[in-house]
Amino acid sequence: MPRPTRPGEHACPSGWAEDLLARDAAAGLRRRPRTREGGSSRLTRIHARDAVVFSSNDYLGLATHPAVRAAAAEAAAAHGVGATGSRHLSGCHAAIGSLEEELAAFEGAAAATLAPSGYAANVAVLQALGGTDAVILSDESNHASIIDGCRLSRSTVQVFPHGDLEALESMLRSARGRPIVVSDTVFSMDGDVADVAGLDAVARRHGAWLVLDEAHATGVLGAGGRGAAAEAGLDPAADHVVRVVTLSKALGSSGGAILGADAVRGLLLQRGRALVFSTAPAHPAVAAARAALCVLRAEPHLVDRVRAASRRLRHHLDRLLPPGRADVPIVPLVVGDPERAVRLESLLLEDGWLVQAVRPPSVPAGTSRVRLTVSASHTDAELDGVAAAVHRAMQPA
Ligand SMILES: Cc1ncc(COP(=O)(O)O)c(C=O)c1O
Repeated sequence: MPRPTRPGEHACPSGWAEDLLARDAAAGLRRRPRTREGGSSRLTRIHARDAVVFSSNDYLGLATHPAVRAAAAEAAAAHGVGATGSRHLSGCHAAIGSLEEELAAFEGAAAATLAPSGYAANVAVLQALGGTDAVILSDESNHASIIDGCRLSRSTVQVFPHGDLEALESMLRSARGRPIVVSDTVFSMDGDVADVAGLDAVARRHGAWLVLDEAHATGVLGAGGRGAAAEAGLDPAADHVVRVVTLSKALGSSGGAILGADAVRGLLLQRGRALVFSTAPAHPAVAAARAALCVLRAEPHLVDRVRAASRRLRHHLDRLLPPGRADVPIVPLVVGDPERAVRLESLLLEDGWLVQAVRPPSVPAGTSRVRLTVSASHTDAELDGVAAAVHRAMQPA
């Protein structure tokens, strides 16, 4: 937490900014994204060095799939690029409606509503369902977009300990207001999976909405990649269940969508400010997501592959990992100290592997880590190679 600025302490506003950045740097927390060359393939060039990417959310390799690329290029050629406005102005293009219908049909939901990003989808759904009369119960490990959505919804927000259904139940018993339970299904930094059936049972007992962020589960878990709620056997058309999916991860495009009852869609278009007041997704992104959904339907073996590849990497790194499901492609190597995480990231890059150091505030203090993500496009040799490199890099100097 930055200390409050004293009057006259900085001669100009940028002095304050530089001071803040210097403090982050001194704490080992300065973020300096690395520029990569060569597009979104799993092979990249970075700092004049070839590397295999183990830090991408492109779990199925669809960002570079020929059919997905072609669809995006054709859409740009036929329709142009930008959507030219929000849904409520000029941006409500026919292809958006088609993608919504296809997503809803794929997921068995009554309706789908597209948002400009997964971040905006989470914010919009909490704005739409929340309000000053609502109480949102949010898992402490939820993604930043949910945290921000809670804040922007003007609801009372109560955070329950990670995965603790008993604590959630007792908070719901004493909640004063319309209850909304919100949780990631696959948690983005640890790769653990929520007890979705348990959350649903608690939500039903208390007449609560259940909002599930499936960002890292779509295309990975459940039959044909339909997500963790499908895997847990939730009724996909249940009125109280709202699922957020991202088009930006396993579907290889960008954008997000909210799946739920018709009334949820109605509320999103009325009150979901993050999607009402933002330009609709661009034509190539919509076309790419539609093509990716076709590939997912036609090539379900990609889902099996990413899960098998995750098992292979986790098996090699077993003793370095917290307990967790073996088939989730998020692999966290928790080292604690932020500078150690950055050093590990650099050592691995020198060896030809692009991984991501993750530090506070993305993760709690003392749990800095290197996070590896697996894709269906990784070869077995690459999975074995990065594991061997991790073991070398983790050895005491
Ligand atoms: C759990 C979770 N939800 C939502 C998002 C936001 O998705 P998008 O990148 O499409 O805005 C992310 C992205 O990092 C995420 O990890």
